[in-house]
Amino acid sequence: MYRTHTNGELRIEQAEQQVTLCGWVQKIRDFGGMTFVDLRDRYGITQLVFNDTQKPMVSSLGREFVVQVTGKVAERQSKNLNIATGEIEIIVSTLTVLNKSKTPPFTIEDETDGGEELRMKYRYLDLRRNPLRKNLELRHRLSMETRKYLDGLNFLEIETPYLIKSTPEGARDFVVPSRMNAGQFYALPQSPQTFKQLLMVSGFDRYYQIVRCFRDEDLRADRQPEFTQIDCEMAFIEQEDILNTFEGMVTYLFKTVKGIELTEFPRMDYATAMEKYGCDKPDIRFEMTFNYLNKETQNKEFSVFNQAEAVIGIVAEGCVSYTRKQLDELTDFVRRPQVGAKGLVYVRCNEDGTFKSSVDKFYTEADLKTWAEKCNAKAGDLILVLSGDKAATQVQMSALRLHLANELGLRNPNVYAPLWVYDFPLLEWNEESGRYHAMHHPFTSPKMEDLNLLETDPGKVRANAYDIVLNGTEIGGGSIRIHDRAVQSKMFDLLGFTKEDAQEQFGFLMNAFEYGAPPHGGIALGFDRLCALFGGQETIRDFIAFPKNNNGRDVMIDSPSLISQIQLDELNIDLKVI
Ligand code: AMO
Repeated sequence: MYRTHTNGELRIEQAEQQVTLCGWVQKIRDFGGMTFVDLRDRYGITQLVFNDTQKPMVSSLGREFVVQVTGKVAERQSKNLNIATGEIEIIVSTLTVLNKSKTPPFTIEDETDGGEELRMKYRYLDLRRNPLRKNLELRHRLSMETRKYLDGLNFLEIETPYLIKSTPEGARDFVVPSRMNAGQFYALPQSPQTFKQLLMVSGFDRYYQIVRCFRDEDLRADRQPEFTQIDCEMAFIEQEDILNTFEGMVTYLFKTVKGIELTEFPRMDYATAMEKYGCDKPDIRFEMTFNYLNKETQNKEFSVFNQAEAVIGIVAEGCVSYTRKQLDELTDFVRRPQVGAKGLVYVRCNEDGTFKSSVDKFYTEADLKTWAEKCNAKAGDLILVLSGDKAATQVQMSALRLHLANELGLRNPNVYAPLWVYDFPLLEWNEESGRYHAMHHPFTSPKMEDLNLLETDPGKVRANAYDIVLNGTEIGGGSIRIHDRAVQSKMFDLLGFTKEDAQEQFGFLMNAFEYGAPPHGGIALGFDRLCALFGGQETIRDFIAFPKNNNGRDVMIDSPSLISQIQLDELNIDLKVI
C-alpha cells in the first residue's frame, strides 16, 4: 500500500498511530537539530519531522520531490491552527524518494512568482497550486450538480458528433481535413444546435449534454476557442417552461455549490435593457440607470445637445467632489476609440443645493435643477451626461456605467444578481454583408404576433429568444425553435440563402421537419463562464485545466504546429497552393 492517509486527513485523534503518507515536498526548514518538511498533496499539507541523526535522509531532498514516508503521528508543540492538520506532525522513521524533481521554474504557492506565459508553459505545475486546484474542484462540483438536477427532471445526456459539417452562419469554424475524402473537410461544432433539434424529432423530448464547442473567433477574458456548454433542448414546451426549468437549475446550483439562496430572478425585455442600461446583459448589482434628458436640455445655445438624438445622464452617487483630474480621466475614458464618445458633460449637485456644470455657459442653475430632478440626483451626487445618436450613446453610456461602477467598487464578485433578458430582435442588419443576420441563430422562431412584419419590416421582428445574465455576463442563451419547414425555409430566404444553398447546408434539418417535428426549444449555458462567476472571477482561463492563450496557442504542447509532408500528402493538402 502506497499510503494509509492523505496529507489533509490526520488529526490529533490519530496521535500515536503509525501511518504512511505520499506527496510532494513543499518546503524544507532546517532548525539545526530538527528538520521540518511540509508534505503536500491535493488534500492538504502535513508536517514531517526528522531528527539530527536523520539529516542524511533529508539532505538529498529538494522542492517538489515525490516521497513516501512512514512514521508516527504526534501532537505538535507549536500548533498551526490555519491548516486542518496543524495540530499534528509525523515523526518519520523511513523515507523513500519515489521521484526527484528539478527546481520548478516558479514557486508552487498560492501567490506565485511565475509570469503568465511561464505558468502556461508549465501548466501541470501551475495546477499544483491551491487556487487552480480549487477552481477545478469547483468545476467538478458544478458539473456533478448540473447532472443531478437535469437527471432528476428526466433529461437524457446524449453525445453528438464532433466531426460535423461547416456552415456559414455564426463564428468561423475550425475545420478538419478528411483523408478518405480528398479535398473535403469536417468542421468542429460551434454548438450541437442542429443535432439537439434532430433529437427532438427523434422523440427524446429532454436532452442535455455537457459538451465541448469550438469557435474560431477573437479571444477575450471570457472566450476560449474551445469551451464547454451545458447544452439543453426540450420538446412540447413554451418559453415560460424553459425559463422556469433553467432558473431552477441556476438557483439549485447556487444553493448546493455555494450555499447561496437566490431570492430574485428578474426578467427584462431586450428593449427595456437597452433603454435603461444600454446593454443586453446589464449588471443589475447596482442601479445607475439611464435618464433621458432630451426635453430638459433642448432649445438652449448648446448645439451639441440640440442636435443629439439622445441626451443620457447617469448619477454617480456621492461623487460631487470628484476632482478635476478624476473628471478628466472619465472624459479620456469615454473618448477612447473603443468607447467612441466625443465628450462628457458633468453636473455637480453641491451639498448646499447649488449646481455647477461643465456647460454653465449654456444652462442656468434652474435648468440644471430640472436635470437633477429628472435623474433623481440628490445633493452630493454627480451627474454625467453623454449625447449623440441614440444607439451609439446607449452603448457608450453603458461602458461608462460599468467603468464607474468598477471605480466605485459596486461590482462585488460575492454578490450575485441573475436575470433573464428576453424578446431579442430576430435579425440584425449587417452593413458589411448588406444583409440581415440572425441575432441568435437561424433556427430561432419569430414571435407569432410579429410574423406579419417579416415581409414588411424584418428588423422589427422579435424572436422567442432569451439570455440568462449573471453580474453583467451572458452565461447562456436559447430560443424556441422553428419546427415548420416552410417557416425555416422563409428564414433562410431572409438571411440571403438561395434555395439551393439552404438545401445544401441545412437540407437534413428541413427534411427532418417533414417527419413530425414537435414544437421545441432550448438553451445553452456557458459552463466555463458559470464556473468563473461561481469562483468570483471574470476570466475563464483558470477554470479550464489546459486552456489556450490569447493567440489561441497551447504553449505547453506548442500547438498549433506544422505537420509533416507525409501527413499533408495523405490529406491531399498542398501548402504551396493554399
Ligand atoms: P450561444 O452562441 O449564445 O448559443 O452560446 C451559449 C453560451 O456559450 C457561452 N460561450 C462561450 N464561452 C466561452 N468561450 C466562447 N468562445 C463562448 N462562446 C459562447 C456563452 C453563451 O451564452 N446553440 C445555441 C444555444 C441554444 O440556442 O440553445 C448557442 O450556442 O456563455
